[in-house]
Amino acid sequence: MKRNIIITGGAGFIGSHVVRLFVNKYPDYKIINLDKLTYAGNLANLKDIENKPNYKFVRMDICDFDGVYKLMQDEQIDGIIHLAAESHVDRSIKDPFTFAQTNVMGTLSLLQAAKLYWQSIDPDFCLPTSVFRFYHISTDEVYGALEMTHPEGIEPPFTTKASSGKHHLAYGEKFFTEDLKYQPHSPYSAAKASSDHFVRAFHDTYGLPTVVTNCSNNYGPYQFPEKLIPLFINNIRHRKPLPVYGKGENVRDWLYVEDHARAIDLIFHEGKIAETYNIGGFNEWKNIDIIKVVINTVDRLLGRPEGADLDLITYVTDRAGHDMRYAIDSSKLQRELGWEPSLQFEEGIERTVRWYLDNQEWMDNVTSGDYLKYYEDMYSHR
Ligand code: NAD
Ligand code: TYD
Repeated sequence: MKRNIIITGGAGFIGSHVVRLFVNKYPDYKIINLDKLTYAGNLANLKDIENKPNYKFVRMDICDFDGVYKLMQDEQIDGIIHLAAESHVDRSIKDPFTFAQTNVMGTLSLLQAAKLYWQSIDPDFCLPTSVFRFYHISTDEVYGALEMTHPEGIEPPFTTKASSGKHHLAYGEKFFTEDLKYQPHSPYSAAKASSDHFVRAFHDTYGLPTVVTNCSNNYGPYQFPEKLIPLFINNIRHRKPLPVYGKGENVRDWLYVEDHARAIDLIFHEGKIAETYNIGGFNEWKNIDIIKVVINTVDRLLGRPEGADLDLITYVTDRAGHDMRYAIDSSKLQRELGWEPSLQFEEGIERTVRWYLDNQEWMDNVTSGDYLKYYEDMYSHR
């Protein structure tokens, strides 16, 4: 089957993995990567597929309503996978307006364009044969923070059982499920929560065929080195201090990015309209523990004595409003669509560290900002 799909934010970390998966797996689809190329967007993330005949890059802001609407018409699209966003909590604390602009107004603009375009191709609104989908990618951070609790007499992490029946280690007795009330704390998560509400409103008000997913922290290749794992890998390599916020006790639930991309593929094709699915790996880690695993892995792969760089750990002032614990229950996705993470965490982290160590040129470009200049030069002539 032929399909024309816009993927927004395809030059970013997760978006580039989704674009790569779709371009390689579906040669009959035309994949249009719509990305503004902010500091976080990098076309070098897609070097291996940029010349494929079923791939097209369009530099555009999701807030550009007219441009986006025209692109939908020109490309006769029948699906949107929306990842474009400002994504870093620390930046949102410094500059919340940019987050409201892109994540809220940008998503609203995209929804409005999609609604008008979809109504123009499907005047009966939602023909049973229609495959049209507006798929919005969101985060577990919209649910707020979970507490660190444990059954009496048992020290965390303790083994518990998800509603799917799967056993896993946890730092608390509660988990994020799809029916939980939204309680975002950071400007980033507040803006993402707001965009999720608009997506739901466009389904409930206009019947737009939407689906939303909320995923836990991703890790893997091509992540911008302002986020914990790539930042620390690079700092360890160069023996620079590792700024651990607070006591390093906060817990995050980590998922390998390619497993997220596989889930997005499955849900885009088989997810039920108007549903929300949580995506996560039942893989909770305290920051300080994950940092030690990263240090040991980098040291081992660089041939340094194991733990040689533990003294780089530097405790710094905590992030304002730092959420204590995130933990996703992805049982619904497993039960209804059969998705499970494919990688054990140890394997995922080894692959990730190896990738960053083998791709120092990518890291140097990104950290030097040369790649931004490259885009300015390239696009100033058009
Ligand atoms: P990222 O910051 O690496 O990439 C964001 C991309 O969006 C960049 O390519 C950037 O150029 C583009 N972009 C930003 N503003 C734009 C605009 N106005 N118009 C068009 N393009 C624009 O982000 P990521 O980590 O890949 O996250 C992608 C999505 O997944 C986001 O919506 C994020 O909220 C969500 N998410 C991320 C994680 C995670 O751990 N990284 C977890 C769950 C959900
Ligand atoms: P981050 O990668 O920014 O993701 P998020 O805030 O979306 O969870 O941070 C992951 C965790 O690591 C979070 O608890 C904050 C902490 N952290 C540090 O301790 N030091 C750092 O330099 C960074 C970037 C994050």
